This record gives sequence, C-alpha cells and structure tokens, in this order.
Amino acid sequence: MTGSLRHHHDRILEALSLLEKLVFMDPPPLEDVKLLVDFIESYVDACHHTIEECILFQGANNAGFPLQGGPIQVMVCEHGMGRYLARLIREAVRRAELGVGGVEELREYAVMYASLRREHISKENNILFPALEASYKEVESTVDPEEVERKTGHEHWERVLEELKSKYGV
Ligand SMILES: [Fe+2]
Ligand SMILES: [Fe+2]
Repeated sequence: MTGSLRHHHDRILEALSLLEKLVFMDPPPLEDVKLLVDFIESYVDACHHTIEECILFQGANNAGFPLQGGPIQVMVCEHGMGRYLARLIREAVRRAELGVGGVEELREYAVMYASLRREHISKENNILFPALEASYKEVESTVDPEEVERKTGHEHWERVLEELKSKYGV
C-alpha cells in the first residue's frame, strides 16, 4: 500500500518542479499550467488523497491510530489546504488568460502549493508511513486502491506528466 503511495509521491514531486518552472516562464504557458492543475485535481486529489484518506488512514485508525488530534488529522488538513491553493492557482490562470493580472498571483500560489506539498510528502515518507508500516501490514477496506486509480485515469495522467517533462526538460 505505502509502496504505491510512495510512487505517487515521486510523480507528484516531479509535477511540482514542472509547475514552478512553467509559472516563472515569461509568459507562462497557460495551457500547460492548466494541464498541471488538472493533474493536481485528478492524480493528486481524486486518486492519491482518496487512497490515503479512505484506505490507509482508515486502516490505521482500525489499528489504533486516532483520526483526530494526531498526525493523521494534520495530513487531512493539509490535503484540504492544497485543494484550496489549487483552486486559487486555477483562478489566477483564468485572470491571466483574460489579461487582467493573474501572473504574479499564479507564481505566488504555485510556490506556496509546491512548498506545502513537498513538506507534506516529506512528513508522510519519513514519519507517518514508517510508523504505519511498523504497526500493521494489511488494510482491510471495501475500497480497492487499484479501482480508485482506474477510475481517476491514473495511467493517463502519468503519461501526460511524462510528455510535459520531456517537453520542458524537467
Ligand atoms: Fe497526504
Ligand atoms: Fe501522500
């Protein structure tokens, strides 16, 4: 379980580097920035965070980890903060497309988003996941992580990311 989530983390870190590179281009390639925001909504939120929240954290709770007042609650809060920042990025792109500002906010929100996500991933990879891995092996869940990946276009979004990486040399 955490193996596939760590794989997602590596792809998400690549997408963050790409996002920061694109928003600081002059002018930013807005179509591709929008594609990255779509990636964030589908790959990061709909897929990765659903698997963490509905399967991993739920399983951890069954094994005795509290959902409230501990690291799991912090992780879920940070998922929400990321969703909010992604929405601000999308709105800034819209303003930039209309030529009514937007580019400076886009850069600011993208840097905030990338920094939030990097710290979050580091906490999961280095603190939370090892703690969960040490405590239980199998998570019983009615939600199948592979089914979540299929329904959210996991492979499609990994291909999109690869294409953008080779287009921009990241
Ligand atoms: Fe997370
Ligand atoms: Fe994660």
